[in-house]
Amino acid sequence: MTSEAGNDFARDVLRGLSGLPKSLPCKYFYDARGSELFSDICDLEEYYVTRTEMVLLKSMQEDLGSVLRPDTVVVEPGAGDGTKARLLLSAMPGRRAYLPYDISRSALDELGARMQDELPEVRTLPLHAQFNDQERIQQNLSEAFPDWPRLLFFPGSTLGNFAPDAAVELLGSLADLVGEEDHLLVGIDLVKDTAVLEAAYDDASGVTAAFNKNLLQRVNRELDADFNLEQFRHLAFFNRNDSRIEMHLVSECQQTVAIGSQRFDFSPGESIHTENSYKFTLDRFGELASRAGLLVERYWTDPQQWFAQVLLRRQGGVPA
Ligand code: AVJ
Repeated sequence: MTSEAGNDFARDVLRGLSGLPKSLPCKYFYDARGSELFSDICDLEEYYVTRTEMVLLKSMQEDLGSVLRPDTVVVEPGAGDGTKARLLLSAMPGRRAYLPYDISRSALDELGARMQDELPEVRTLPLHAQFNDQERIQQNLSEAFPDWPRLLFFPGSTLGNFAPDAAVELLGSLADLVGEEDHLLVGIDLVKDTAVLEAAYDDASGVTAAFNKNLLQRVNRELDADFNLEQFRHLAFFNRNDSRIEMHLVSECQQTVAIGSQRFDFSPGESIHTENSYKFTLDRFGELASRAGLLVERYWTDPQQWFAQVLLRRQGGVPA
């Protein structure tokens, strides 16, 4: 990690734990161990999200072949190993290109190798970049793929980690990467039965609990802190009012935790709010998108209506 990134982490952690209620940003879950645990989560029986989305994307392949224009470049923020994009790319007409970006170099290496193996005919240009590296992405796109139609692909319900105002802002900035005749394809998790939702974030084998607690381990390791992981309990519940799963780490007792030279007191039952995972209805997502200047052109869901892929275009864009 660069020292700049390290400073961001320290600053965000100290700020989050100084707040009332205490919180930590969920983007810090994904260190090496956290990424491993998340991939274990994706294989859990209870975690329907990834499985449902993969089946959904496969079921859309035929439609996409006709909806998307030939010679499209797929742009994917936070692409990881690119598994989902390969489902799209293998179904698309004409020449195809792929511009994935991610902050993890190891994920990008893996992605490059897999693309070479499975879809060598797709021109792939992996970029090491953050979500907000707009300018660099834009520049790379227009240099490498001038005049190509673009599809901004944002699967995985990643948008669900953002509170409504931040989600509108993020959608707006992603929309800036495409032209008025281009599309965005966004994966969102839908509101469903509370028991199904809560089991997905509090699995019987405790993998999600370990994923949540790993954040404290990361703070211990990287910021010289002394969290006792046995004195915090994983809590996940569906907040129906705000339509989101909340994850917390709850202090089991009165305790004081040191982070470097600073001290933080926890009362028994006091929690650190570590993640929100918003669940949408198609109507509510449509409103959010419209606040970002986007129109829903069409959507796909699985038979249980647990997950959706929504095809959007910029308002004022030319309808197909
Ligand atoms: C990666 C944000 C889609 O919210 O479902 C999984 C993260 N947290 N289990 C989600 C997560 C706990 C996941 N996303």
